[in-house]
Amino acid sequence: MTIVLGIETSCDETGVGLVADGRLLGAALSSSMDEHARFGGVVPEIAARAHADAMTSVLDAALADAGVGLDDVGAIAVTAGPGLATALHVGVGAAKALALALDRPVYAVHHLAGHIAADTLEHGPLPDPCMVLVVSGGHTSLLLVRDLAREPVLHLGDTIDDAAGEAFDKVARILGLGYPGGPEISRVSVDGDPTALRFPRALLGAGGDRRYAFSFSGLKTAAARVVEAGRADGGPPVADVAASFQEAVVDVLTTKALAACADHGVGTLVVVGGVAANPRLRAVAAERCAEAGVVLRVPRPGLCTDNGAMIAAVGDQLVRADRPPSPLDFSARPSVELQLSLLT
Ligand code: KG4
Ligand code: ZN
Repeated sequence: MTIVLGIETSCDETGVGLVADGRLLGAALSSSMDEHARFGGVVPEIAARAHADAMTSVLDAALADAGVGLDDVGAIAVTAGPGLATALHVGVGAAKALALALDRPVYAVHHLAGHIAADTLEHGPLPDPCMVLVVSGGHTSLLLVRDLAREPVLHLGDTIDDAAGEAFDKVARILGLGYPGGPEISRVSVDGDPTALRFPRALLGAGGDRRYAFSFSGLKTAAARVVEAGRADGGPPVADVAASFQEAVVDVLTTKALAACADHGVGTLVVVGGVAANPRLRAVAAERCAEAGVVLRVPRPGLCTDNGAMIAAVGDQLVRADRPPSPLDFSARPSVELQLSLLT
C-alpha cells in the first residue's frame, strides 16, 4: 500500500491531504479568503504569498491528522493546472522539493480531476461510465467520465461565459453581500421566495452543440437590472433576488445534467466543485434524480470546495493504475483543459 500526499494551491486554499487505497487518511487546509474579501475576488499575488507562508504548517498538520511521518509517504501528487499561475507554482515547487528530498515519484494532476476524485473518498470507486457535473468558481462542465486514471474525459458541454460559482460571486457583489458569494447567497436565500422573480434560464431549450452548454452572464445582468431599478423605491428584498437567482442556476444545472444522463443512458450523476456545496442544488438534484431513477453522488461540502485530499485521491488512483510518474521538469499549466487526469 502506497500513501499518496496531495498538494493543492491553484486558487486561495492551501490544501494537503493523504490518501491510500482509496481511503482518506488525513488532511489540512489554510485559506487566504479573508485577505481577498475587500478586493471582491482573489488577488493572485496575495494568494501565492499566502501559499508560501502556509505550506509547511499545512503539511505538518495534514501528517499529524493522518498520524504518519514524511518518511511514510510513498508518492506525491500536485495540482499543476488549471489555476492562477503564481499560486500553482508554489504547490509545484513544494511537490518537487518533497519528491527530491524523499526520493519519491511525483504526479502532475489536473485540478478538475481532483474535484471528481474527491467523491470517491466518501462514496467509493466511481461507476464506469458516470456523468459528472463540475461546478466551481472557474468551471462549469458536463463530463462523461470512464476510468479517471487511464481514459480521457469526454466534454459534453461547458459554460460559454461565466462559471456557475463566478455568477454566484458576481451577483453576491451586486447585492452587497460578502465574498465568496456562493455561501452568502445560499445563506440569505433561506428567507427568500425563489418564485418572486422570474430570471432567465439561458440555453435551457437549446439543441445541437448547445444542448449541454451553459451561460450565466445574462442572469447576472438581469439581477443587476433588478437591483438598479429598485434603487428609487427600494425594490424587491435582497433575500428574494438571491433565492430567485439561485433557483434559476439550480434549475438549469440539474435539467441539463439529467438530460445528459438520459441521452447517454448513464445511471449515475456525480456533482462536484465548490458550488456542489450549495444546499438548494443538492436538494433539487436529489429530487430530480430520484424521479428519473438516476443515482446521485455529491461529496460532503468540505470535499466539494478546494482541498488537498482530492489531489491525493487522483494520485492514489494513478499509483494503483501503475501509471508512470511525471518527469521532474514539468511546469504549471494555468489554463490546461481536462482530458487526462495526469498532465505529463
Ligand atoms: O471548487 P472551488 O472551491 O474553487 C474553484 O476551483 O473555483 O469553488 C469555489 C466557488 C466560488 O465561486 C464559491 O462562491 C462557490 O464555489 N461556492 C458556492 C457555495 N460554496 C462555495 N456556491 C454556491 N453555494 C455555496 N454554498
Ligand atoms: Zn476547484
